[in-house]
Amino acid sequence: MRTQVAVVGAGPAGLLLAHLLRLEGIDAVVLETRRREHVLGRIRAGVLEPGTVELLREVGLGARLDRVGLEHQGFSLRFDGTEHRIGLAELTGKSITVYGQQEVVRDLIDAAEPEPCFGVSDVALRDVTTDRPSVTFTDAGGTRRTLHCDVIAGCDGFHGVSRSAVPATGYERTFPYSWLGILAKTAPVHHELIYAHHERGFALHSMRSPELTRLYLQVEPDERIEDWPDERIWDELAVRLGTACEPGPLVEKGITAMRAFVAEPMRHGRLFLAGDAAHIVPPTGAKGLNLAVADVRLLSRALTALLLHGREGDALSYSDTRVRGTWRAERFSTEMTEMLHRSADPFERRLSLARLRRIASSTAAATALAQDYVGISVGVSEDA
Ligand code: APR
Ligand code: PHB
Repeated sequence: MRTQVAVVGAGPAGLLLAHLLRLEGIDAVVLETRRREHVLGRIRAGVLEPGTVELLREVGLGARLDRVGLEHQGFSLRFDGTEHRIGLAELTGKSITVYGQQEVVRDLIDAAEPEPCFGVSDVALRDVTTDRPSVTFTDAGGTRRTLHCDVIAGCDGFHGVSRSAVPATGYERTFPYSWLGILAKTAPVHHELIYAHHERGFALHSMRSPELTRLYLQVEPDERIEDWPDERIWDELAVRLGTACEPGPLVEKGITAMRAFVAEPMRHGRLFLAGDAAHIVPPTGAKGLNLAVADVRLLSRALTALLLHGREGDALSYSDTRVRGTWRAERFSTEMTEMLHRSADPFERRLSLARLRRIASSTAAATALAQDYVGISVGVSEDA
């Protein structure tokens, strides 16, 4: 087997990279360990920056997004028993779009040509520091194969094989709390997102559609899902959000640890890391998908210049550019996380409230938050 770019991983990063490369006339083969149904069923975040939406539209992936995506002109912060709205449109002239990551993945898989190779195993990256790298794997039918290529794109997430094939330094932070997330068949109680800072912990009200609500609660890192029967979740949400949701059947329920991670550098020879293989941001502010999109947009340009025109400048600077972009997103996501969650440390708790009150009383502070949230200075619109 031979292709120009071997893409390891069929998450949003790998699928979008293959799509962008194909539009430039570059062949890519996507290898994925999981089955198609598993990849399509994975529920993740759901806030798209305007730069992400624009890119998806430009590359022919905007039809369903424009039909069912929910455009939001603002969101609310609740704390001190009051609500403060961040008017994104007034403060920045931009809005965000609520559209589930699994919908983006579905659109990408529907558009994929050829179809990704799902269900592969024993993936190994070879000769990445030469200009003839390859990927060996066992296909879904059990046949051992070698995929020869010019470049390998490591888009296989935090637990993939690509990250460990780059001799990188990993900068990591684990937060002392986790998120319990549910997706419920019930109408959102508010037309926008609500980020609630409460003495019992953080809560987030989000949505996927007029019938589907996505909700999160800050919980202890060692909390077990068995200790959270549905009724306890709904009660706790009502207290922290200050508004009771109409309980509905749960489509999904799970606990996710909160961590931040950055690999430096993000390239080794002909192996380039993108998406969660290169970095993890804490989920507050929903930058993960937008950051993956920013990576692959730059990577597709760099690979086009390299493979079609023999120009290697952008490929050589890819890592430096995306390391800087990643730290911009880490800075925002970490600050947003620490401002909104309940810390065990009373000093930190008072700082969090002081930060929230400053945003509520200063247009300059609210504008800075709104700009970060829509991706000005943080997200996809940078490094264009
Ligand atoms: N070989 C091939 N595929 C692999 C391997 C491997 N050895 N290991 C993991 N994978 C696959 C996973 O099954 C997954 O489908 O790589 C894919 C990585 O996809 P994601 O985890 O979705 O990561 P990414 O595409 O970088 O997306 C970034 O998704 O996880 C969220 O918060 C994250 O929003 C961000 C976005
Ligand atoms: C979500 O809808 O899943 C979501 C929304 C906003 C966030 C994080 C997650 O900040």
